[in-house]
Amino acid sequence: MKIVVTGGLGFIGSHTVVELQNEGFEVVIIDNLSNSSREVLEGIEAITSIVPIFEEMDLRDKQSVQQFFKKHSDVSAVIHFAASKAVGESVEDPLLYYENNINTLVYVLQELQKKPASQFIFSSSCTVYGQAEKMPITENASIQIAMSPYGNTKQIGEEIITDVVRVSNINAILLRYFNPIGAHPTAHIGELPIGVPQNLVPFITQTGIGMRQELAVYGDDYPTSDGTCVRDYIHVVDLAKAHVAAMKRLLQNKNKEKVETFNVGTGTGSTVLEVINTFEKVSGKKLPYKIVGRREGDITSAYANTDKANEELGWKALSTLEDGLASAWKWEQKIRS
Ligand code: UD1
Repeated sequence: MKIVVTGGLGFIGSHTVVELQNEGFEVVIIDNLSNSSREVLEGIEAITSIVPIFEEMDLRDKQSVQQFFKKHSDVSAVIHFAASKAVGESVEDPLLYYENNINTLVYVLQELQKKPASQFIFSSSCTVYGQAEKMPITENASIQIAMSPYGNTKQIGEEIITDVVRVSNINAILLRYFNPIGAHPTAHIGELPIGVPQNLVPFITQTGIGMRQELAVYGDDYPTSDGTCVRDYIHVVDLAKAHVAAMKRLLQNKNKEKVETFNVGTGTGSTVLEVINTFEKVSGKKLPYKIVGRREGDITSAYANTDKANEELGWKALSTLEDGLASAWKWEQKIRS
């Protein structure tokens, strides 16, 4: 069975390619290398001994998308990661985000709609919940007005898919990720942030290795156990496995609705200071940090209720925060050596 993985050389995409190959799926990667590197293919091969088919192309080019699906006429299952993901950049250049994240989605769905039956998995985000009223967050929590064009593209993406499945033979699953961290335990693939990392864990590992002087902790006056924000950090390998479980559900026609939504998290919230302490424990290094003011747009707390994913997908996050941070640290040490 052939699966198309768009953005398959990116952080979550590459780990998902590995898990698909481990489960016997044949993978075709589409990537435009805008935020990834061709060397990731070697990392995937080092883990699985399989080189996936790779098509370097830009999904913003509608004709290329059409040609791709003509060439690979036997594929009808797509996991769609290709998208831009920097919140700040999306505020600076909203049209870039609407073009990258929405146009590409539309073009891929247009091709899938031509098929007698197709399966589609969408990378959504817990950002759609904003600051939810109740923790842990269930899939029924209300969607809040997006705080950035990036967040808006995830909401609009979900709406587009919901409208399209109603009138087509596409079945879809929306996966709302909490905070992905870590790297493959072999350290053959991992996260490769461009420039100064905006996310917590890559900033921590770069500080640990000496690339950054100190971590700025954005606020310690939140109403949480130690005053710092709470997030649900999920190991990228667990997250990748959730995609395989979701794809199998669609291929085996086990889905109960044409579009289903699942939270993908661990169910446990950790504060920023807990993440720092755990990093110090797994790395044996003291992490220099200082408390600074709150970052605009940050919410206080977000962690998942994972009952639906556990019960319906038969999937559960198995790795701990320690595992995630240890793998991220191993990866950071490998790429800087
Ligand atoms: C951010 C995005 C979210 C996106 C996700 C992708 C915002 C507001 N949200 O989530 O939409 O889906 O990335 O991974 O940007 N922190 C520090 N110092 C740092 C970096 C982060 O203290 O240098 C803190 C933050 O305040 C937050 C936590 O660490 O409490 C996690 O931050 P981050 O990794 O950026 O993720 P989110 O903000 O949860």
